[in-house]
Amino acid sequence: MSVLSILPSHALQGTLQVPGDKSISHRCLIFGALATGNSVFEGLSSGEDVQSTQRCLEKLGVSFERLSGSQMQVHGVGLRGLKSPEAPLDCGNSGTTLRLLMGILAAQPFDTILTGDASLRSRPMTRVSEPLQQLGGQFRLHQERFAPVYITGVSNSDSSPLSGGESILQVASAQVKSALLLAGFYTREAITLKGLIQSRDHTEKMLPDFGVTLEANSARIHLPAQQQLTASHFKVPGDPSSAAFWLVAAALIPGSEVCIEGVSLNPTRTGLFEVLKRMGAEIHWETTAPQAEPLGKVWLRYAPLQGTTIEATEIPALVDEVPLIALLATQASGTTRVQGAEELRIKECDRLDAMHSNLQAMGVHYTENREDGFTIEGTQPLQAAQWQSYHDHRIAMTGVLAGLIAQGGAHQLIGADSIAISYPGFLKDLERLQATS
Ligand code: S3P
Repeated sequence: MSVLSILPSHALQGTLQVPGDKSISHRCLIFGALATGNSVFEGLSSGEDVQSTQRCLEKLGVSFERLSGSQMQVHGVGLRGLKSPEAPLDCGNSGTTLRLLMGILAAQPFDTILTGDASLRSRPMTRVSEPLQQLGGQFRLHQERFAPVYITGVSNSDSSPLSGGESILQVASAQVKSALLLAGFYTREAITLKGLIQSRDHTEKMLPDFGVTLEANSARIHLPAQQQLTASHFKVPGDPSSAAFWLVAAALIPGSEVCIEGVSLNPTRTGLFEVLKRMGAEIHWETTAPQAEPLGKVWLRYAPLQGTTIEATEIPALVDEVPLIALLATQASGTTRVQGAEELRIKECDRLDAMHSNLQAMGVHYTENREDGFTIEGTQPLQAAQWQSYHDHRIAMTGVLAGLIAQGGAHQLIGADSIAISYPGFLKDLERLQATS
C-alpha cells in the first residue's frame, strides 16, 4: 500500500480547472451507450470509477473511441443492442457503475452478474434491487443484500419487459433514482418517482439532451414510457466534489486564495459552498454558462472560521463533502454539528468512523460521535499522525489536507493510491497551488 508523507503548507494561491464531474461522466457513457448514433463527450473524468463504467459497457458490446484532445466518442448500440457479457462485470470500487447498470440489466434478454472490489461488495444493494423487483426485475444478491448481484434475463421476445407505475423512494440517493429511471426505458407504462427524490439531479437534467421527455419537480419525476435516447454532444463541467478539496484547503490555510473555473454549479451539488459561507470563509460563485447543467467559477479567500449546524435536509447536496466538514470543524471556533448523515456509513467506507478515528489519531476530541453525525468544538490543533485512507478516495484526499495544517513533523497517509478513483491529478494540482504563492 502506498504511503505519502505530507508536510505543513504555506498559503495556497492560484486558479485551477478540476477534472470532469464523476457523476456526469458515468451518465454520459451510459446514456451514450444506450442511445442510437454516436455521442461525443468532452472532458470526462479520467478517474478509475469512470473507467470501470467504460470497461463494463465494453463487455456489453459498446465501443468507445478517443478523439482529439479530451473528446471521447461513444458508439451507441440503442436500448436493445447490448450483448451478453462472457464473464461477471467488475465494477471495481464504483457504486454508481453497479447500481445504474442494475436498472438496465434487469431488462435485458440475458443473465448478468455484477461484482466489484471488497468495499463495493460490502455496500447494500437492496435499495436498488427491491424497487426494481417491483417492476418485475429478477435479482439474487449475495447474503440477500450485497454484490455479486445475479440478474436473471427477461424473455427475448418482450421489448418492454418491466411494468411501470409509481415508486416511492425510501432513501435520498441519486444512484437509486437513476437506476429506476434507466429501467423506465424498458417499461410498458410510465414511471413516476416520489418520496425522497431530492438527491443530485444529473440524470433528470441530462436525459433531455439525449432527446428524452420527462417532467421533474420537487415532488415527483415522471418518465413517459416507450422512449428512445438519441446521440448527444456534451461538455462535462468540472467536479464540484473535487473543487471542494481546494476550497477547503484555502479555508484552512491563512493567506490562501484560490479560484476554480469551469466547475459544475448544479445546486444539488453546491451545499458545501453554502456551508463555507456560513462558517465565515470569503467565498463567491458565479455562473458563466447557465445551461441545464450550469457551470461557472468559485473563489475562496481565507478568513477565520466559525462553527455551524448542518441539518439533515442539507446532506444530499453535500453528501460527499461531509468528511471535509469534519476537518473544517476542527479549525472553526465554537460548535459544528452535523446531523442526518447516516448515509456516510455505507459509502466506500464508513466515512463517519474513518474521520473519527483519523482525527482522534491527530489529537482531536469529538463532543459527540453519533450514528447520524457528530459535534466538534473548535478550534483544536492537529498533530501529525498516520492517516488511514480505508481505500476511500475522499478519506485519502481529506487526509492530505489534514497534513497541510498538522503540527509536529511529517503526517503520513496510508493508502494514497485510492486518490486515483476520482482525482488522479490531485497531488499535481496541490503542487500547482503551492507553487504560485
Ligand atoms: C452519486 C451519488 C451519490 C454519491 C456518489 C455518486 C451518483 O450517492 O455519493 O459518489 O453519481 O449518482 P447517493 O446518491 O447514493 O448518495
